[in-house]
Amino acid sequence: MKSLHQQSRIVALQELRLREKAVGLSQRFADDPARFERFCFSFGQHMRVDLSRQHWSADVLAMLCDLARDMELLPAIEALFGNNLFNHSEERAVLHTALRMPEGAIAELNGLNVVPRVHEELARLRVFCERVHAGDWRGFGGQPITDVVNIGIGGSDLGPAMVVEALAPYQDKGIRAHFVSNMDGAQLVSVLAEVEPARTLFVVSSKTFTTDETMTNAHAARAWLLAACGDREQVKKHFVAVSTNASAVQAFGIDPEHMFEFWSWVGGRFSLWSAIGLPIALALGFDRFEQLLAGAHEMDQHLRETPFERNIPVLLALLSIWNINVLGLSSEGVFPYSHHLKRFPAYLQQLNMESNGKSVDSCGRPITYSTGPLVWGEVGTNGQHAFFQLLHQGSLVVPADFIGFARTSYPYPEHQRKLLANMLAQAQALAFGKTRQQVEAELEAEGLSAEEIARLAPYKTMEGNRPSTTILCDELNPYNLGALIAMYEHKTFVQGVLWNINSFDQWGVELGKKLAAQLVDELAGIGNGQQDSATQGLLQQIASWQVKCKE
Ligand code: F6P
Repeated sequence: MKSLHQQSRIVALQELRLREKAVGLSQRFADDPARFERFCFSFGQHMRVDLSRQHWSADVLAMLCDLARDMELLPAIEALFGNNLFNHSEERAVLHTALRMPEGAIAELNGLNVVPRVHEELARLRVFCERVHAGDWRGFGGQPITDVVNIGIGGSDLGPAMVVEALAPYQDKGIRAHFVSNMDGAQLVSVLAEVEPARTLFVVSSKTFTTDETMTNAHAARAWLLAACGDREQVKKHFVAVSTNASAVQAFGIDPEHMFEFWSWVGGRFSLWSAIGLPIALALGFDRFEQLLAGAHEMDQHLRETPFERNIPVLLALLSIWNINVLGLSSEGVFPYSHHLKRFPAYLQQLNMESNGKSVDSCGRPITYSTGPLVWGEVGTNGQHAFFQLLHQGSLVVPADFIGFARTSYPYPEHQRKLLANMLAQAQALAFGKTRQQVEAELEAEGLSAEEIARLAPYKTMEGNRPSTTILCDELNPYNLGALIAMYEHKTFVQGVLWNINSFDQWGVELGKKLAAQLVDELAGIGNGQQDSATQGLLQQIASWQVKCKE
């Protein structure tokens, strides 16, 4: 397959850009009264994705779709649903879409349909969740479980933590879910301070069951439990595991009966649909976990069946190629106007940046074009009072995704009106800004002198013409959230196909892990002292301050 820069379409897109450069967003809307209808796309009855305020035209969209065809996107999408999508650098298949397929569906891997096995594991999860909810699974002293602490990091934390938070209004099972991920013991201490040992269930979530942060926290949590109950046998009642590594789980002391399995063909950042979603099912109930899966499956069907010209994840990915590789905009802001989605930007960062932060193509050859953007964000309206100034008037142009929900479950209709008004206003201000003439007319109407007007006008002028996408759903519920997450998963995947990179490995994170292991020895005073001079200097400073503290 050709790399992106070898594609004549990219050259044609660049030429198109030069031809269209002078047309700003205000002009595009003035020229085409049907622009919103033309560029706003539907996912079923519950989601609309408005791409009309991006710097593109029908010609650009058509050419991007041709580029996708040239890059063989269609067979790549089919491969995502069975048998031949392979992560070569890690030698494993990629088939996370099978996790949300309904019973009876087929997703083959090496001639074997994996869907029945997926549903067997889901059935085990359901039975377990129902036992916990019924108070039938008891801790030491016969206490029912009231708190679940998920110990995991990266894909074994961010997805479940984000979903549990996002769907807080649906938590009616009497279970509070907590998440411990960080190597900073402060997080474990603060979570343990909120829970009672006899009523707490720890879910140790790790695909490999070797991740240092997770194992360090899991050992400390086990010691905390043992200090409270004094009996090793009780650990079984308080620790379950989600992993692909049965022997390591057993070595830790968790009963194999209490291990929930997932598979090598599920990448960490695509795993919340598997047993990694156990804290979601415990906090929200298994039926709601199934609704989440159903929403994701519906988005899978949309990806497979919808022509590129109306295919939402494909269009989002093509747009990012346009923004990054043609317009040179390498940052993407994501701004959910829902406080419950406050962990969504962090989740999306792993999904997209760990997947597409690559500089070699899928054959290991260096690439010469930009790949994954910097993804960042914050919930609205908080972001407006922090960094939105830069979005509106800074020299950096950041395409923004606004995510909003028409209805809320909270009894504060005025809040909801104002929240949505703010979201719509930000997209409007970014796109259309305020011209110098408008500013001058306003200041004149306020009675300011010509001198004052000339002094203030430059500061108050907003050039606008800044691109954004608005994703609007009817409400934030398990089904819609499943679809929204799958939409971003597929955007990430399609970007990877177009950039011809392997979106499913993450070798860049390994070196730091190895170096940290050596530096732990240095900090313990048993290293070989062979560090670069900057690290050596910092180690000495740490040691001297630690000694001072002991004195
Ligand atoms: O270090 C990165 C990473 O490998 C992620 O890809 C993964 O989600 C995370 O660590 C956790 O890995 P595990 O589930 O094996 O503990």
